[in-house]
Amino acid sequence: MNQIACSFAPGFEKIIEELIKSRVNDAQKFNVSSGFVYFFSSQNPIEISSSLDFCNNVFLILKDFSSSVQKDFASLVNKTVTSKFNSSILELGAKDSFRLRFSQSNQFVNVEKQLTIRAENFIQKTFSLQNDRTGGGKEFWFMTRTDGFAAFAYRMTQKQSTEKRFEQGELRSEFALMFVKMAQLPHKGKFVYADPFAGHGSIPKILSEECSGCTIYASDIDNDLVGKMAQKFNGNRMIRVRQSDATNLSFFKDNSVDCVISDPPWGDFEKEIDIPLLYKKMLVEFDRILKDEGKLCILTGAKNHFEQAVKENKTFSKNTQNPDFKTDVLVNGKKASIYLLKK
Ligand SMILES: C[S@@+](CC[C@H](N)C(=O)[O-])C[C@H]1O[C@@H](n2cnc3c(N)ncnc32)[C@H](O)[C@@H]1O
Repeated sequence: MNQIACSFAPGFEKIIEELIKSRVNDAQKFNVSSGFVYFFSSQNPIEISSSLDFCNNVFLILKDFSSSVQKDFASLVNKTVTSKFNSSILELGAKDSFRLRFSQSNQFVNVEKQLTIRAENFIQKTFSLQNDRTGGGKEFWFMTRTDGFAAFAYRMTQKQSTEKRFEQGELRSEFALMFVKMAQLPHKGKFVYADPFAGHGSIPKILSEECSGCTIYASDIDNDLVGKMAQKFNGNRMIRVRQSDATNLSFFKDNSVDCVISDPPWGDFEKEIDIPLLYKKMLVEFDRILKDEGKLCILTGAKNHFEQAVKENKTFSKNTQNPDFKTDVLVNGKKASIYLLKK
């Protein structure tokens, strides 16, 4: 069995094990801490890595030092260079290069030059790789964390810059997936979902993949975005695209929606929007369209405005006492919360 470790957006600890198991069916012996998880699996580590697209980094742990008493980098390097490793598992090419990184409590640190050279020489020889400190190649890490985890690891993820793949304001697909999982929605059935601030459609797309048989209304006030969504979801029979203001969803009858799940504007980019007023008005409209047992799931960075709007809403205010009401998360490094409410 190989030991795999992943870093992910803090706040999603509750669902990370379930999410990994849905992609790596023999994953076991999980250990979850803030934004970090490790587990064991006998599947090919490179294939595991490509299936865990919701993780920031995925590592193959080559040596776990968590139970060692001495976890300073000199001790970790000394123990590593006297160990044996099976390099074939990494599927490295003859021309591959590498760089070595030392990570302490999630921060890269510099260590004594001689120690770095000693570890680099060992990696170069053991894994037949060229050393290239400018990066771009494979990465080996010595890592220590405040939760006691310490390891020599091979980083398997080689991500492109996210700016290239996502539009401004678009919820990255991995967050949309983790948000939908946090909401603990049914996997199948004739449920009606609404994302009234659908933007580029990240949440409706994930809902259509996660809940077979449901109907998803994806609406937004912005005509251009609605046009793009209509094109993107053309042929997807589960998703219905509409242009609409979220405070007046007239295409829904009263008590007709099972779940509103959405990522409304946070006020970061849209300075012209009165966020407190928008949040108050949207809650009134969501109350109208939701069925009596309906759920409301909101992701926002404008926490105070949302919580104030909930307090003032006659139907939703009861939720503030519920332990699941609020989970703090980090979305692209920004503090946000996921709110789960019942009508
Ligand atoms: C944070 S973005 C949502 C991003 C979306 N989850 C995605 O993945 O692209 C907020 C969206 O709300 C839309 N919006 C702003 N005010 C609105 C309103 N009153 N009614 C409906 N949509 C609105 C914006 O056009 C924007 O697309």
